[in-house]
Amino acid sequence: MEVRNYLSEEGFIDVETPYLIKSTPEGARDFVVPSRMNEGQFYALPQSPQTFKQLLMVGGLDKYFQIVKCFRDEDLRADRQPEFTQIDCEMAFVEQEDILNTFEGLVRHLLKEINGIEIPEFPRMSYEEAIKTYGNDKPDIRFDMKFAELNDLAQGKGFGVFDSQELVVGIAVPGCSEYSRKQLDKIIDFVKKPQVGAKGLVWVKCNKDGSFKSSVDKFFDQDQLKSWSEKLGASAGDLLLVMAGEANKTRTQLSTLRMEMAEQLGLRKPEEFAPLWVVDFPLLEWDEETDRYHAMHHPFTSPKPEDLDLLDTDPGKVRANAYDMVLNGNEIGGGSIRIFDKETQSRMFDLLGFSKEEAKDQFGFLMNAFEYGAPPHGGLAFGLDRLVAILGGQETIRDFIAFPKNNSGRDVMIEAPSKIDEDQLKELHLRLNLK
Ligand code: AMO
Repeated sequence: MEVRNYLSEEGFIDVETPYLIKSTPEGARDFVVPSRMNEGQFYALPQSPQTFKQLLMVGGLDKYFQIVKCFRDEDLRADRQPEFTQIDCEMAFVEQEDILNTFEGLVRHLLKEINGIEIPEFPRMSYEEAIKTYGNDKPDIRFDMKFAELNDLAQGKGFGVFDSQELVVGIAVPGCSEYSRKQLDKIIDFVKKPQVGAKGLVWVKCNKDGSFKSSVDKFFDQDQLKSWSEKLGASAGDLLLVMAGEANKTRTQLSTLRMEMAEQLGLRKPEEFAPLWVVDFPLLEWDEETDRYHAMHHPFTSPKPEDLDLLDTDPGKVRANAYDMVLNGNEIGGGSIRIFDKETQSRMFDLLGFSKEEAKDQFGFLMNAFEYGAPPHGGLAFGLDRLVAILGGQETIRDFIAFPKNNSGRDVMIEAPSKIDEDQLKELHLRLNLK
């Protein structure tokens, strides 16, 4: 109700869009529904109302919202369900700044009304900074433990494990310099778990008397360890944890460790809220499996005008007018300023490996609509389930959804999915070919 109150007050109009549609590319698989009246054809359930809300902007609405079910056939996790609810929004004649301000206002309103907390201005961080400082594009900034790169200080000193690596990076864990051998081993076991996948780590105790004790004392003297601790902003009494390897992988591993240490130290306080915007996401990401670029947000996201030249020469470097809202280490919303001319949109489909025919077949309706003069527009969608869970001090959305699905995508109350009988199959022109 508070979402509706705020958005209605701001002049947003609630529009329902259809559920029986065709594929909207948000990066997951579609759930499909066979059509009885159109033999051999299928509807797809919306992964989001993305294309409809853009059409509404072309059609003349300028502030749209909808609290809407979305459907994504993807692997489930604590913060993912196959059907979930978005607060979906779009605005015309806006720039990124307008969107950020409007929806920061919404979340500020909710935090105040629901949790009684007032947060003045949400910090903003570029994607690049988030990855470098937290190893992650949805950093939990309720606590510090920021990354610092130690290549300059730790390489070329005869410690082979570090020397050949792309990145040496560490964090300072507050107040843990007196950890026992057993406690340190537990941390090492944690990073070696297959889910984390590291080979090991180096620890340095910043003793309270100003001396240092480390797992690499043979290679590094007190002055060198001191220089690490200074770079990491550590105080006496802290424990440095340092990892090395290929940059992306190592950042992800250290980010997992950072969250684990925060959890163990009780730094992820559910009653504390630290929202931020992560901005300037890359437009594209390279997919090793399919050997081509994918849209990092979705194919309707506009490149930053100042990066347009790179589209031909170095597409991976192009930044997008795309942003996420992050709350306590969770992505609670994301959106972008859209492409609103046919030419750029068709160039984008090109880059993503769509042939002209495929693009026309799947998205001709949108590109044709652009021909009538589309206003500049943009928007975002919040994950309502995630938002509500976090405001409720938790991260598992299943506890905040009536009749959720289990990890295999089943509703165990009503036993769905289930078989359908022969007659129904026949009517739908389907024949099962099960092994
Ligand atoms: P996106 O795919 O980032 O953007 O989704 C928006 C938000 O929806 C939530 N979310 C989910 N919540 C629960 N279970 C899921 N399976 C799930 N998938 C996503 C997240 C996410 O931030 N059309 C665009 C928005 C836009 O560009 O305007 C979109 O859907 O909190």
